Amino acid sequence: MKIVMVGTGYVGLVSGTCFADIGHDVVCIDIDEEKIEKLTKGVIPIFEPGLDALVKNNVEAGRLTFSTSLKENMPGADAIFIAVGTPSAADGKADLQYVYAVAEEIAANLKDYTLIVDKSTVPVGTGKEVEAIIKKKYKGGFDVVSCPEFLREGSAIKDFSRSDRVVIGVRTEKAAKIMLDIFAPIKCEKVVTTVESSELIKYASNAFLATKISFINEIAHICEKSGADVEEVAHGVGLDKRIGPKFLKAGIGWGGSCFPKDVKALDQIAGSHGYDFKLLKSVIEVNQHQRQHFVDKIKKHFIDIKGKNFGVLGLAFKGNTDDIRESAAIDIIQRLVKEGAKVDCFDYEATANAKEILKDTVTYYEDPYKCVADNDAVLLVTEWPQFLELDWRQIKESLNEPVLFDGRNLLSPEKMREIGFTYYSVGQNHEEK
Ligand code: UGA
Repeated sequence: MKIVMVGTGYVGLVSGTCFADIGHDVVCIDIDEEKIEKLTKGVIPIFEPGLDALVKNNVEAGRLTFSTSLKENMPGADAIFIAVGTPSAADGKADLQYVYAVAEEIAANLKDYTLIVDKSTVPVGTGKEVEAIIKKKYKGGFDVVSCPEFLREGSAIKDFSRSDRVVIGVRTEKAAKIMLDIFAPIKCEKVVTTVESSELIKYASNAFLATKISFINEIAHICEKSGADVEEVAHGVGLDKRIGPKFLKAGIGWGGSCFPKDVKALDQIAGSHGYDFKLLKSVIEVNQHQRQHFVDKIKKHFIDIKGKNFGVLGLAFKGNTDDIRESAAIDIIQRLVKEGAKVDCFDYEATANAKEILKDTVTYYEDPYKCVADNDAVLLVTEWPQFLELDWRQIKESLNEPVLFDGRNLLSPEKMREIGFTYYSVGQNHEEK
């Protein structure tokens, strides 16, 4: 089938490439000429494990091409996917200007029945708006479908081919049939709903996951006060199949390009329908507090952090990505710098992006050992699996003081204490009253 994917951001590029990989004929469109030129030459603008090889294979197989023109690529398309950004506006609402601009362009150039599929994360009612925009200019047949994405950065390719489910929000059987044909090679449950339910499933999913993390982070506070260990508690709780073990990792809180934006947007959606989503407001508040709580722990140990030197491992909002959007790591670094601490930092992929934000307020290293050496403490703030493999004895020897703050509960407290670290993590240190 012929698929046009509008937007070569994270969602569009990964989904477009994966659609090509399951056998469709895909054109990825972007108005950014430089980006399209680079993609055509095989230069991938984001770090996503396995993506460059997948793009290369599918370009070589003739199933994947890139273009700046939506109009030229519309004829013969079975489906046009809209995968453009929906950033947070100042009030937290999703900014839909890019979605509507694509809808206008589709409306101006539509000639035959085509499926218009919204893959961007959009508030309930956006599908209806897109329908109205197209109907104004085009009197022929078309269907607007909602098909949210559930890919995680860092494991997006695996998430695509081994999805838990595909959600398809439609108004007609014809639209459902085309979507089911597109996703036929993906073996998982296909959930066919109304457009509105599908739009809400996306927000509800991300908000629920963020809630789960904020919940375990609240439990972590009780652990610190009571002497319980949050890792043991999460394990015991997660074994209940009704709860499940995933997204119960306590730490410095959630970040990224999705959770913060989508949780705020859902709160706004609720408000716009006259409902005060109190729980979600607390989920956001708990997440903010989690970052300061980590800084407070450091301040409690050192009493005064002005002039102290910290080696910070991690800049990305989570492991396996170069993305620093709403990264708790960056936020914590900024809080430390503001209080007069000196910060050396290291990340496997996110340094270039972090430089744009942190500029010369910190020192950047290309080697984790050099980053932490001669500092007063190590702070581990991104869950890169490679940090587990570091020689922590060597790190301990290279520090001024053997102090380690693990903001991701990545390392083993027993092992770190045995090496000789004063080891702090989240929800595992009993605070004496
Ligand atoms: C998230 C969702 O997991 C995807 O299903 C969704 O498609 C995507 O948003 C999106 O809407 O596009 P992603 O932002 O890539 O994916 O990141 P996650 O793996 O969900 O992690 C989000 C944040 O939560 C990270 O900062 C991570 O460090 C944190 N986290 C995650 C925890 O603190 N504890 C956990 O147990 C899990």
